[in-house]
Amino acid sequence: MPKRISLTRYLVEQQRMKGHIPSQLRLLLEVVARACKRISQAVNKGALGDVMGSAESENVQGEMQKKLDIIANEVLIEANEWGGHLAAMASEEMEGIYVVSNRYPQGEYLLMFDPLDGSSNIDVNVSIGTIFSVLLKPEGVGVSEQDFLQPGTKQVAAGYCVYGPQTTLVLTVGDGVAVFTLDREQGSFVLTEENLRVPEDTKEFAINMSNQRHWAEPVTRYIDECLQGKDGSRGKDFNMRWVGSMVADVHRILTRGGVFLYPWDKREPEKPGKLRLMYEANPMSWLIEQAGGAATDGNRRIMDITPSKLHERVSVFMGSKNEVERVISYHRQG
Ligand code: AHG
Ligand code: MN
Ligand code: MN
Repeated sequence: MPKRISLTRYLVEQQRMKGHIPSQLRLLLEVVARACKRISQAVNKGALGDVMGSAESENVQGEMQKKLDIIANEVLIEANEWGGHLAAMASEEMEGIYVVSNRYPQGEYLLMFDPLDGSSNIDVNVSIGTIFSVLLKPEGVGVSEQDFLQPGTKQVAAGYCVYGPQTTLVLTVGDGVAVFTLDREQGSFVLTEENLRVPEDTKEFAINMSNQRHWAEPVTRYIDECLQGKDGSRGKDFNMRWVGSMVADVHRILTRGGVFLYPWDKREPEKPGKLRLMYEANPMSWLIEQAGGAATDGNRRIMDITPSKLHERVSVFMGSKNEVERVISYHRQG
């Protein structure tokens, strides 16, 4: 029988062999995975649980919250606040940072998350997920929002869990990308793929085409050329997919290649993009880079951007390396 490697065993072996997962980080990742299991259970209940529909409240981004956005946020906070591994957390669903209560020991890590990515897909039974990113708290007394404002290159762990036909946890600690599938009978995540690689070339792109008339010139040019297919300068036909949950779109790209685009557009010119840098773009960028892909805002490597605020937004182009490099070259040419 092939050896089954649980998430726990994988983390212990990584720690033992390569020494790059300190025990507090291992605990943190296990706790996040446990929270994802609980969120997965809530998602699976659907209309049988009180998890569908709107919560009739707005988050800091001015977006209507779904019940599951709030449930997932609470599950992640409750699971993580007492373990002694964290100094503070930040979430899409909370305006400020959540400092771990002084009833518990303070750890050295900072955890950021998008508790429920793809909220508009909850009620229609389409894949959604949780995205997370881990930083080390800079030296010093106490913890503040400023401590979170580190570029993505400083991440010490990043990952996501996608609640789809399978519940899948995808993780990096800077040594490649590992994929775990939830065994529902056993209640544990089992390693199902190691050293995931994104093909360098692709014939598939993911963008919300309904925004086409608002795009900047380099994006229009890139997509036009894809659409011309065999008859155009690319000389090959392209396929298009847009789930509307970044986790699901990026998971597909990590699995079979492709390019994901959520660019700045002219609808709200002062807004740099829709997606959030610190708990959407950065963790996904690191996973994509660790799998051999690339991630840019058109001009800069996403992970090199130093954030100036917690909920900062950014333009995102990520996926198969050669396509992302093409998008970058179109931005250079103006
Ligand atoms: P969230 O549900 O966390 O607010 O994120 C939704 C994001 C992202 O998952 C997805 O790629 C994008 O919004 C979809 O946007 P459109 O509805 O504009 O296509
Ligand atoms: Mn999101
Ligand atoms: Mn969300």
